[in-house]
Amino acid sequence: MEQYSKEVMDHFANPRNVGEIENPDGVGTVGNMKCGDVMYVFIKVASRELAVGGLEEFIEDIKFKTLGCAAAIASSSMMTELVKGKSLDDAAKVSRDDINTALGILPKQKYHCSILSAEGIHKAIADYKSKQVGK
Ligand code: FES
Repeated sequence: MEQYSKEVMDHFANPRNVGEIENPDGVGTVGNMKCGDVMYVFIKVASRELAVGGLEEFIEDIKFKTLGCAAAIASSSMMTELVKGKSLDDAAKVSRDDINTALGILPKQKYHCSILSAEGIHKAIADYKSKQVGK
């Protein structure tokens, strides 16, 4: 049986950014068809000035709740660390492969578990953007 990496075990034992954000700017809810597990991602978005002028929106805060397996929890925790502080555009580009690489690659049979975390942040950003329409 393939073993979990040190990073997976660390993020599973001490998950970062677990919980909920009150009045979040965006929420992503994702269910995993393969196993029935569910995850929720909450984001707070803020604006900052760019050195070249203008403003960009970025992920000021992020929290997650995962009702899932160890690999889903570790992937979600790593995902929050990868996107926190990133611009919305850069956060939207963080993929399942980025998360798996940062985790030291999950065992193949657990690879699908990282879908939750990548989709969760993408959906939270889409939710935030949909709420800005017409503002
Ligand atoms: Fe469901 Fe891993 S077994 S997310």
